[in-house]
Amino acid sequence: SIGLFNNYMAKFGVEVSYVDCFDNEAWANAVQPNTKVIYCESPSNPLAQICDIGYLSELCKANDILLVVDNCFATPALQRPLDLGADVVIHSATKYLDGQGRVLGGALVGSDKLMQEAFTVVRSGGISMSPFNAWVFTKGLETLKLRMQAHCNNANQVADFLVNHPNVSTVHFSGLSDHSAH
Ligand SMILES: Cc1ncc(COP(=O)(O)O)c(C=O)c1O
Repeated sequence: SIGLFNNYMAKFGVEVSYVDCFDNEAWANAVQPNTKVIYCESPSNPLAQICDIGYLSELCKANDILLVVDNCFATPALQRPLDLGADVVIHSATKYLDGQGRVLGGALVGSDKLMQEAFTVVRSGGISMSPFNAWVFTKGLETLKLRMQAHCNNANQVADFLVNHPNVSTVHFSGLSDHSAH
């Protein structure tokens, strides 16, 4: 995303400021009179940092700003940003939505009005998904919940091992998976 913002959006005159994603005060301070969008990736790649999406949604509503959340890593099986007040959710569907390394693609989710605007750009710009890729993705969605449960179970087993390891001082849990033992 940083490459997209710095190298391409800047050419269209879009100014971008960056903040520590878990610092709510920094988000609020970064809002300018010309701010149109708050964009966050939560959990982030590669550090798995978490934003307070509910807080950002309030901040956006108070300032008439759109909240866009990249939900690639959590997927809708673990986190639903629209329910937390986001306006648009984006996915690199190539990752967990397919989950099996078969096809490349992306997904954009939001209100009819916003998606109609996006659809116009996609249709005119030619960044449309092939029917075969779309079919593979929809088949992948059928197993998304089960696959994410398996990922969470595996991650919790690794975390449990590390928690009890004498050479490991701290283990961070994201709060997204069901690790009720902790
Ligand atoms: C969280 C996240 N969002 C978006 C992207 C971009 O994905 P794509 O190359 O499929 O557009 C990546 C790629 O690594 C990512 O990790």
